[in-house]
Amino acid sequence: MAEYDLIVIGAGPGGYVAAIRAAQLGMRVACVEKEASLGGTCLNVGCIPSKALLDSSELFHESKTSFARHGIKIGDVQLDLPAMMARKDNVVQTLTRGVAGLFRKNKVDHLRGTGKVVDAGTVSITGGDGTQTHKAKRILIATGSAPVQLPNLPFDGKHIISSTEALTLPAVPKKLLVIGAGAIGLELGSVWRRLGSQVVVLEFMDRIAPTMDREMTTLLQRSLEKQGIAFRLKTAAESMKIKDNQVHVNYKSGDETGTEVCDVLLVAVGRKPYTDGLGLAEAGVELDKRGFVSVDKQFQTRVPGIYAIGDVIGGAMLAHKAEEEGTAAVEIMAGKAGHVNYKAIAGVIYTHPELASVGMREDEATADGREVKIGKFPFAANGRARAMDATEGQVKMIADAKTDRMLGLHILGPRASDMISEGSLAVEFAASAEDIARTSHAHPTLPEAVKEAALAVDKRQIHS
Ligand code: NAI
Repeated sequence: MAEYDLIVIGAGPGGYVAAIRAAQLGMRVACVEKEASLGGTCLNVGCIPSKALLDSSELFHESKTSFARHGIKIGDVQLDLPAMMARKDNVVQTLTRGVAGLFRKNKVDHLRGTGKVVDAGTVSITGGDGTQTHKAKRILIATGSAPVQLPNLPFDGKHIISSTEALTLPAVPKKLLVIGAGAIGLELGSVWRRLGSQVVVLEFMDRIAPTMDREMTTLLQRSLEKQGIAFRLKTAAESMKIKDNQVHVNYKSGDETGTEVCDVLLVAVGRKPYTDGLGLAEAGVELDKRGFVSVDKQFQTRVPGIYAIGDVIGGAMLAHKAEEEGTAAVEIMAGKAGHVNYKAIAGVIYTHPELASVGMREDEATADGREVKIGKFPFAANGRARAMDATEGQVKMIADAKTDRMLGLHILGPRASDMISEGSLAVEFAASAEDIARTSHAHPTLPEAVKEAALAVDKRQIHS
């Protein structure tokens, strides 16, 4: 038995960042992880492998559709799916080993096994070597989330799959049916569409990516449809039958009913907090109605000394939100002013074009009783986007009409994921549209479209 200042349960981006930051602050720290490799969902079966496949599949698709326009002639392009998967696995392995290296560098003990809270000062870890028990002044729960399963369409890992299996399919399915047009459905639907699958997405709501600005998602839907992804909106999957190695999915859309037949069904209808076997109820930790761990503003649960962060406490289920919370939680434990500015946390969907957003949507700003000014700028009028042959999409900036403060930034375009940090910075520094408009942006670059949208807030953009 060892005695720690802090034991973190879960080594995803929330937990491992919290562990490293706590060690930097002088705490004696251990991090418990049940999986063989560190990094949690994000590094192993989420953000990183999906981006590796998105980048590979985009290159494959471009080599067939746009290289010729660049004057590059290539012969018959062939897909080597095992090589693509091996590259993805290699990316994952390099990064997860990197986390192990960071633990060593920062003297964080990596405890292998499944952690359980015994009481406010004790954690048990069950793994290959049996069960060991360690003492801790504080415990931080960072166990993340797991895919939601639909009652009538349970996962079987082969025909009915979650995002985890969609990252390792052994062959390109002829037809992939996706339930849910959120980030996972759109990203993994894009991967398999680019690799040759027929892809149909069923979505409950009347639009795709319902948490994003509607004008932007309407444009994104058009782009994805041009790429050959079909959408059935206002449609709910009701039941299924597996026959002759195919899934027959019965759906309902208004008064209409129908059946879609596919080779593989990806269910991507959200994720739920992961608290199985943690012993939280026995330890007195409160969960809310939806199973999320309830915490106060300092990330402390009802039980003094037990804290929680990341997907398991609710809010946006994003790696970078969990990282911010993990850092803030341990800084608060160390007597510092840890804080998370949730308004500055961007959301990104890594489709082509990418959709990225920070701050308020147009409907949120008006529902908040604000008078707004909106500046838009199309990538078709941006020199770098033209040079890249990536002109789909636009930047939309929402500013307060009275104060000129930037309230929201929405980017649909090439590398929107990289550009949205300017919007997060603007939110963090309470910038006005004028501040952004007066900031020099290197030419020719994609972020010039953000400057032009800021100029367009006062109708003085130059290039459109
Ligand atoms: P999501 O909550 O983003 O989207 C689920 C979609 O499924 C919604 O549009 C919802 O209306 C629809 N839906 C729910 N039940 C349905 C039904 N029975 N029939 C048809 N449609 C139905 O969930 P998703 O995509 O599974 O992602 C899970 C979490 O992981 C999210 O919080 C997401 O933000 C996060 N994530 C983030 C990524 C990113 O930042 N790029 C990538 C992947 C996941």
